[in-house]
Amino acid sequence: MNKENMKTKPVLFSGIQPSGLLHLGAYIGAIKNWIKLQNEYECFFSIVDLHSITVRQDPKAFRERCYDFLALYIACGIDPAENVIFCQSHVPAHAELTWILNCYTGMGELSRMTQFKDKAKKQEGATVSVGLFDYPVLQAADILLYRTNLVPVGADQKQHIELARDIALRFNRLYGEIFTVPDHFIPKAEAGARIMSLQDPESKMSKSDPNEHGTISLLDSPEVIRKKLKRAVTDSEAEVRFHATKPGVSNLLTIYAAVTGKDISALEAEYQGSGYGKFKDDLAEAVVTFVAPIQERYFELRHDKAALNAILQKGAEQARARAEQMLQKVYEAVGFVVLK
Ligand code: TRP
Repeated sequence: MNKENMKTKPVLFSGIQPSGLLHLGAYIGAIKNWIKLQNEYECFFSIVDLHSITVRQDPKAFRERCYDFLALYIACGIDPAENVIFCQSHVPAHAELTWILNCYTGMGELSRMTQFKDKAKKQEGATVSVGLFDYPVLQAADILLYRTNLVPVGADQKQHIELARDIALRFNRLYGEIFTVPDHFIPKAEAGARIMSLQDPESKMSKSDPNEHGTISLLDSPEVIRKKLKRAVTDSEAEVRFHATKPGVSNLLTIYAAVTGKDISALEAEYQGSGYGKFKDDLAEAVVTFVAPIQERYFELRHDKAALNAILQKGAEQARARAEQMLQKVYEAVGFVVLK
């Protein structure tokens, strides 16, 4: 890709928190779309480590996990030569713009964020940090720093993207066209906007699920994948059909469709009358086949820290160059003294 090209392409920004393991839900809900869109957009893919510390992390494990995520992004098919892949903490402008945007965001707006309400509730008794409250503003800063046009995320992030839009519009009304107002991109339900827990199909597959059988990590072994899918919650109907009253089976169909590229209706037809046993066995093999090449590539990349660091170094420089321009523009707009 030459420079000329890069300028004319619209910008895509997305990120995943390096907390827990990267799982099939995150792959299907986000990364799969990143891969599809990476040629049409100038892409910034971030490992959003500043977001992760809104919940306590073990420093050593956290640092290693950031490398895991980097190697997995690449193993999944994000090309570091064509896209900017970087750690959020390597680009100071993210924290700096957050402060500015904090001054243009209402307490009430943040209090209404459902992710905050859920996470705060889960912390039962423990102090809820200001960082957790402010999380969506940091996310808005991520997006707005890069003149982002498109933000591909899972359905649960819609409210955060809408907040980023509101903040951008509010700022632009005061100071002129500073920010690009982003669109979110949420895959259709069938394509896997929301992959649910295998154990509790009413709640989403989550890195922080205490029940490890609910989540399939991209790095799970074939035996573990088979075991988890065998235990996946279904219903007593023994009918492979996508329906709101059958959340467990519908979720498995969604996963099946996503890892094979088949239509859900084709899968329903294929498994008509066959019961859940065969369906689950075949799904397990499909998932094993799907993750095998990702794991192979991951293990090749993961041990070469020097190479991974070089990728992060280059990504940090590219992201900083872009983000710094926007930050300067914002500083000028609000009236800070500009040193030339
Ligand atoms: N909050 C997002 C999530 O939990 C992660 C995220 C942080 C993000 N900053 C972002 C996603 C910017 C898209 C754009 O999934």
